Amino acid sequence: MRTRLALALAAAAVALTPAHLPAGAFPQRATAFAGRPAIAVGVAWYPEQWPEARWATDLDLMKATGFNTVRLGEFAWSRMEPAEGRFDFAWLDRAVAAAQARGFMVVLGTPTAAPPAWLTQRYPDTLRVDENGVRDRHGGRRQFSFASARYRVFARRIAGEMARRYGHHPAVVGWQVDNEIGPPSFDAEAVAAWHVFLQRRYGTIGELNRRWTTAYWSQTYDSFDQVPLRQTGQQNPGLLLDFKHFTTAIWTDYIGNQVQAIRPFIDPRMWITTNTMFWNAGFDHFALHRDLDIASWDNYIPDGRPDWVANGANHDLVRGYKRRNFWLMETQPGRVDWVPVNRALDPGQVRELAWQSVAHGADGVLYWQWRPARNGQETYHGAVLGQDGTPNPIQPEIAEVARDLTSAAPLLADTQPVARLAFLFSYDSRWAIDLQRHHAQFDPVRAFTDFYRPFRVAAQGVDVVSPDAPLAGYPLVVAPDLNVLTAGQARALAAYVRGGGHLVLGPRSGMKDDANALWPERQPGPLADLLGARVAQFYALEGKVGLQGEVAGSASIWAEALEPRARDTRTLATFTDPGGWLDGKPAIVSRKVGRGSITYVGAWLDPEAMAALATRLLADARIAPLVPDAHPDLEIAERAGAGKRVLIVINHGTASRPLAPPAGATPIAGDWQGGQIAPHGVALFRMK
Ligand code: GAL
Repeated sequence: MRTRLALALAAAAVALTPAHLPAGAFPQRATAFAGRPAIAVGVAWYPEQWPEARWATDLDLMKATGFNTVRLGEFAWSRMEPAEGRFDFAWLDRAVAAAQARGFMVVLGTPTAAPPAWLTQRYPDTLRVDENGVRDRHGGRRQFSFASARYRVFARRIAGEMARRYGHHPAVVGWQVDNEIGPPSFDAEAVAAWHVFLQRRYGTIGELNRRWTTAYWSQTYDSFDQVPLRQTGQQNPGLLLDFKHFTTAIWTDYIGNQVQAIRPFIDPRMWITTNTMFWNAGFDHFALHRDLDIASWDNYIPDGRPDWVANGANHDLVRGYKRRNFWLMETQPGRVDWVPVNRALDPGQVRELAWQSVAHGADGVLYWQWRPARNGQETYHGAVLGQDGTPNPIQPEIAEVARDLTSAAPLLADTQPVARLAFLFSYDSRWAIDLQRHHAQFDPVRAFTDFYRPFRVAAQGVDVVSPDAPLAGYPLVVAPDLNVLTAGQARALAAYVRGGGHLVLGPRSGMKDDANALWPERQPGPLADLLGARVAQFYALEGKVGLQGEVAGSASIWAEALEPRARDTRTLATFTDPGGWLDGKPAIVSRKVGRGSITYVGAWLDPEAMAALATRLLADARIAPLVPDAHPDLEIAERAGAGKRVLIVINHGTASRPLAPPAGATPIAGDWQGGQIAPHGVALFRMK
């Protein structure tokens, strides 16, 4: 039987132990609310969709569910500004007051993902245009052009009006700008902005021609205004990568516009964020978070079948955007409604996934949504209540999550996930590979996740950061497919290795510069000398090739014949490929550099070889797991800070598993009984 976390936590004596903060620990918590719970748990509520007479009942039911936070406002533009320049916040005042009366923390969303009909009707130039030149219409959402100066003015005004009104409201804790930004526009204004962007980036058209090698196919441009705005088609890879740089710049500016509108009017205790989507390829998320205080994201498991390691990688990436704790702004109460088969999560998995987000650094967990609107595009989506306003079968599980997280909040306050190594995620590399996969199955996100998997399982704590992040605190840094490598990044990575760090590069690394042009040296380009080896040739694989040596197994999809050139570069694995190009060629090489090392992995390894490689590299970097030999269904994580160390163990499987906590760990609460952790169970321990 489950021990309720709530009860056990209340009873637990909180004996503070000396701080254990790893070098890579993130600086601040994501909830700086004096006198408020350190963990927010709540739901998206759309009062504008319901008669006001119902609001009190809904808020009381939310309270009874154990929520302490509501998120509202997003998408309600036509209620807030029913006609141009005529604002009506009276209803929102009452909704926020009703939430405040029940002690809720309030997150306000700016409504700019859903412009009102009057706006786009009067100003059709604010509507987005797709790549084929078709202008969007009213009736969906995100139909605005991200490049429209006029839309910026309207967005700034509504965001500013909201901030003026609620910027000092005691219930409001934070601001969400827009909602899941993403689709670009190809309208005339976007094209003009593209030309300005290119001019700023390259200075002269001659420089653009040089960096893109436009002598190829007679692409040479005479002026910037000749350059087409394209994201698909048979275009120059330099243009296509710069398209992503452009969307990053425009979206960052789009968000910055609203941040500037809000910031002057709000209390410094309030944060500003925007909620992003999983693995969204639309812009560089590290850059986008420049003006934001915290990251937040919407974690959905569309097929209802969580892969806990892959999902954890995404949490780690989001934490890496600001290198601090984040909020889970949306997650599903069971199921979504936007894939071919919207399978519900199994009983216990909603709870398990909430704890997973906290284990990876979430300081807020909010469900989407409270109750399905009676009509509108999402009537089939999972919700806490049914359309009749009474709880769905998932509600008791969500209530349990809410109770447990609220009880654990004092323990988790001011703690951050402890990472023992860093993975580098490079948007440029992801895009560059995706634009020229060379093997249809070389999905860069999958490649990243496959690499991350055995390291996360064995090390039990990984940071995912930008290649431009400071790395000195990490004993081990892994860059699974750092295809685009700038000269500056190469210098920083070389300095990291010379300073005693262990660097691991995966296949396709060091091939391109940031204009998506080949480095003149073979891979890993500017790091080839440090490695004392280079890629002689790469091969797309139809089947598998063997690997033998210190790391044995097989590789598929991608293999590179390596060529050691320095005497002290060691070969850790060679290919077996009878009759093929790869036979006997080095597949993995490594070189010691002072107390550090650089290793190059020239293949997409199968899970067995990848696990063997991870074991070896973690041992070299002296990284030991907290809980050795844990079953693969068990996720082990640590949050530490403010003199506390908390071990969080989650059983993502359907069977009980043995769990031996580290010596001196005191069970605080959860589903750990008789040395076993229950299926979908969660257990907390305080560590010395
Ligand atoms: C998110 C979005 C929400 C809702 C949800 C449904 O992408 O932010 O507004 O549509 O998906 O899963």
